[in-house]
Amino acid sequence: MPVNPSEQSKTSATGDISPPVAVTIDDVRSAVAKARSETAIRVGFVPTMGSFHEGHLSLMRSARSECDFLVVSIFVNPIQFGAGEDYDSYPEDFDRDLSQAGDQGVDLVFAPRSAVMYPPGNETRIDVGSIDNALCGKNRPGHFQGVATVVAKFFNIIRPELAYFGQKDAQQVAVIRKMALDLDFDIEIRVCPIVREKDGLAMSSRNSYLTEEDREHATALYRALKGARDAVARGETSSRKIKRHMKRSLGENFKVEYEYARIVDPATMAPVEKIEGKVLAAVAAQVGKTRLIDNMFLTPGEDLCGE
Ligand code: PAJ
Repeated sequence: MPVNPSEQSKTSATGDISPPVAVTIDDVRSAVAKARSETAIRVGFVPTMGSFHEGHLSLMRSARSECDFLVVSIFVNPIQFGAGEDYDSYPEDFDRDLSQAGDQGVDLVFAPRSAVMYPPGNETRIDVGSIDNALCGKNRPGHFQGVATVVAKFFNIIRPELAYFGQKDAQQVAVIRKMALDLDFDIEIRVCPIVREKDGLAMSSRNSYLTEEDREHATALYRALKGARDAVARGETSSRKIKRHMKRSLGENFKVEYEYARIVDPATMAPVEKIEGKVLAAVAAQVGKTRLIDNMFLTPGEDLCGE
């Protein structure tokens, strides 16, 4: 259970001290204010829903290397889950997360309860505009509104100089960048590369839902994207052809239920007809009971961590 930041830190499995945990907005604000008064010039922030894997830890590592005070939130945000989605069964392992955050040198974990973030009567939501009509927005109505709203709240509570997101959720990155621009958040958004398993599967907390058999088929998404990238490297410039190729590649596997395969502008998520410059291939599919997403820049050298 979350504790107050004033309570003593614990020692993690590897001997590192686990960070203090704030559960109220006032506690976070005073911990950040105290750090700032003690010369923490750059406050970094990594929002998460917990159940950490290497993808989460890579964001913390990047943030740690650039910031003086590092805040990580662990909050399974109810308003970004649709009816029938996995809000109630979302994987959680708070003690393990805390120990891993300690290993990464995180200074403060913010783990609010839902009622702290959304007290009765809280109803203001961020409309993310046309970007919601693309990719996952169509199949998950209200999802990006929920993401933008919770991230905006965190930005206002923590007021970081830098915030870190994973390229794994490419549309989320585009939504947050656009929100920061449109609403004048003075925060640098950093994007870190996708961390993959050895066989190419993009790491995700939801991979824990995959059965052993599903897990074998789950690499289909990576293979479809890799095929697209290879085709571009051979000189293919037609999005139509590459999309057809990705769809066919996903469809070859009877365990994989195709949802979409698109080629888009990474900033707007708008479809791109001809492959030139910085374009992103994005796929979504259901493997067993688990919905998976993945993406890849079609021109090499674009996957670096940075602005
Ligand atoms: P969550 O799925 O926990 O992811 C937290 C951050 O880790 C996101 O920025 C996500 O893109 C990044 N991430 C996940 N898997 C990754 C991987 N394999 N490689 C690199 N980065 C990866 O995304 C969310 O939570 C929520 O929507 C949130 C932003 C916290 C708002 O509730």
